[in-house]
Amino acid sequence: MRDIEHEVLIIGGGVAGLVLALEVAERRPVTLLQPERDGQGASRWAQGGIAAVLSPDDDIEAHVADTLVAGDGLCDEAAVRFTVEQGPAAIAWLLSLGVPFTPDPDPAAGYPYHLTREGGHGARRIIHADDATGRAVVETLRRHVADHPAIRLRHDLTAIGLIADTAGQCRGARCLDEHGRVVELLAADTVLATGGASGLFRHTTSPDPACGEGMLMAAELGAELMNLEFQQFHPTCLYDPEGPPFLISEAVRGEGGRLLDLEGRRFMPEVDPRAELAPRDVVARAIDAEMQRGGGDHVWLDVRHLGEARIRHHFPTIHAHCLARGLDIAAAPIPVVPAAHYSCGGVATDLEGATTVPRLYAIGEVAGTGLHGANRMASNSLLECLAFARSCGRRLRHPRPASRAPLTPWQPGRTPIPREEIAEIRKALREEMSARVGIVRHDAGLATAARRLAELAERLAPRLDAAAPDAALASLWHALRLARLTVACARARRESRGLHFNPDCPVHGDPDPRPSRIRLADLDDD
Ligand code: SIN
Repeated sequence: MRDIEHEVLIIGGGVAGLVLALEVAERRPVTLLQPERDGQGASRWAQGGIAAVLSPDDDIEAHVADTLVAGDGLCDEAAVRFTVEQGPAAIAWLLSLGVPFTPDPDPAAGYPYHLTREGGHGARRIIHADDATGRAVVETLRRHVADHPAIRLRHDLTAIGLIADTAGQCRGARCLDEHGRVVELLAADTVLATGGASGLFRHTTSPDPACGEGMLMAAELGAELMNLEFQQFHPTCLYDPEGPPFLISEAVRGEGGRLLDLEGRRFMPEVDPRAELAPRDVVARAIDAEMQRGGGDHVWLDVRHLGEARIRHHFPTIHAHCLARGLDIAAAPIPVVPAAHYSCGGVATDLEGATTVPRLYAIGEVAGTGLHGANRMASNSLLECLAFARSCGRRLRHPRPASRAPLTPWQPGRTPIPREEIAEIRKALREEMSARVGIVRHDAGLATAARRLAELAERLAPRLDAAAPDAALASLWHALRLARLTVACARARRESRGLHFNPDCPVHGDPDPRPSRIRLADLDDD
């Protein structure tokens, strides 16, 4: 079924997609695909806040410098400067929409809202809404989007691929409705805001993470992907084998939380002078090493010394969640483990979100803008969503004449692939990625992962042309090839840098490090 021709189609309803919709809808009608799972997407779970230069004691150069240090030599300085400079205006805009950021109770404070600290930041510059910032921002934006007459929300469609024309332009998205019927949404401009690829791994910080579907959809149209080997593991996810994934915000360490080994000894000061506030790659690796050394399945994060009143005041969501799981964090240390959290790479874009495919844009975690380099600094992700959604919005306000090239043909198959088999292959993929492409990767493990992922792909590939369209199958096929591209990038980087740590390669071994760039055609058998 072919739907009406759309002006601007946005796939994904997290912070990036919502902000873009509001920006563009002033001039052009927008269709926003927001499947129900987007309500559970990564934006909503971002606890800590948004990094921006807001305090009179802070400055743009300091935020730029901290981001470059965290990115470990691979940031694009122009992208960093652009993003950081957009911060104050973006926060003022969110305030004008009514986001309930936490005020600073100190009347002598130089800025009316409370600013916390997180790893890598040399200053207090994280504005937040208690410890549930993502939720507060998403809920506020959703209210404005729901009220906007030029934004058409579709909760009933899941994108399974993009539509191309014979001129190589993106012309919209192919979706499935709730009954599994194919719906083609043609669009003058299409924007991916589909989130990252943490779902390629077994343990994640959010309950229903994206698996890189948007990255691979773009790659299917020939888009360039970048820096896929830099997958961030958040150092402190609650260790709760029976419960849902739950993040313990970096702001907990920013306010004084200390990491302890299983004997109760503080270990971070010996690893890095910045101790618990070192960048995430450093802290996650130190925890991983500590768990290997001690043979435990977690370490402790201790906040008892902050006192119950301060804990409840700063971290009401974390306190309440842990209490509901039987843990009083004011009385006992919190068991924590690193878990997959954020994809620093993605679809390569310019400063307006344009990809290398005409009429296709990417914003938010799906994009590789160059901001994060080899390691994202805490709370720069929502800032990136805001900065790039707003700049992409400014660009898309001015339509260009529509493409008239014929669409490339597509024919759906009819044979279903059993659900159990899809689930089994997905489980094997995640286990492979977690076992061999995690916080520490070795050459031999990466070679094994490349072989096993190719075998999993080979199980599906010959049956795909005849396969009936299915959202779970599309997601798996996208995830499998993205995992293979990720492993290819990891194998190609012959050094350890930022989040990519391979003991078989020297630390900073490349005297002229460059972001990695890859296309789907680089998978030799694709
Ligand atoms: C956190 O609160 O630690 C997560 C926010 C982020 O990933 O920047």
